[in-house]
Amino acid sequence: MSALTFVHLSDLHFTRSPDELLFGAVSPRAMLQAAVAVIHRLEVKPAFFVISGDLAHEGDPQAYRHLQEGLKELLAPFGVPVLLALGNHDDWQAFSDAMAGVPTSQLPGRYCYSQWVDRLRVIVLDSHLPGRLDGELGAAQLAWLEQELAVAAAPEGELVVVHHPVVARGIPMVGEEYVVLRDRDDLAALLAGKRVLGILSGHTHVATTAQFGGTVAVTAGGTAFRCDPALRTGLRLLAGGSFNLCTLRDATLFVNPLPLPSEEHLLAEYQLSDAPPPRRAAPLLRDVSPEP
Ligand SMILES: [Fe+2]
Ligand SMILES: [Fe+2]
Repeated sequence: MSALTFVHLSDLHFTRSPDELLFGAVSPRAMLQAAVAVIHRLEVKPAFFVISGDLAHEGDPQAYRHLQEGLKELLAPFGVPVLLALGNHDDWQAFSDAMAGVPTSQLPGRYCYSQWVDRLRVIVLDSHLPGRLDGELGAAQLAWLEQELAVAAAPEGELVVVHHPVVARGIPMVGEEYVVLRDRDDLAALLAGKRVLGILSGHTHVATTAQFGGTVAVTAGGTAFRCDPALRTGLRLLAGGSFNLCTLRDATLFVNPLPLPSEEHLLAEYQLSDAPPPRRAAPLLRDVSPEP
């Protein structure tokens, strides 16, 4: 088998316009542009892009229109498939109203689909629960996935994409049960004995790789901003980001995280709580960010 290289991006967190900054400091579009500049300098052209959710920061129609424009300018010139998944910051209705040409869902009520890329099959799942930070696939989507995997296996295997990671980021943190996919054990049981090359996720803004259910779980660091991977009781959001350069070779998934150039700069800081998060971006008890 020859090598097949693709790019795993995550957590673009697009705002409504190029000028609207996150935390008063970060242009998500400029960060995507920085990632694309790195990709253009690679000697190999990616066969496809996967973007594993949190496409828009507020999930509003204008942000998706901005995203559509950004993807057209930055990724369309590669002339390869761009596979999008939804995250907790996204809104399916606003997304589908604004984004032309994206695959339609193969299951009512959730945004999930499978797509062939060459001899590989990419299965995009939807862990987004409206208005919630945490994520779940649910019985119907797991049954759909089981059916998909029961169809003849792709010659070079399957990749699964889901926003909420199936493993935490490593160092234990307060409230991490709201970070990882709730029904990950059901997913692991379903994947046992199948030839899934890897599960690609986002959400934590920390690049992570771990064994999971006979495959490998890979979390991309996110392009818009990154999180301190070692803070146990809080959430420290920092300027900068990364993405994963992935290569399939001899039925093995290789992942190389590539950082985006940025100065060390604290964007926001929060105290975490064990309490169930009431809404999408609020696992947070107390904002302890320094004054800008
Ligand atoms: Fe995110
Ligand atoms: Fe997220």
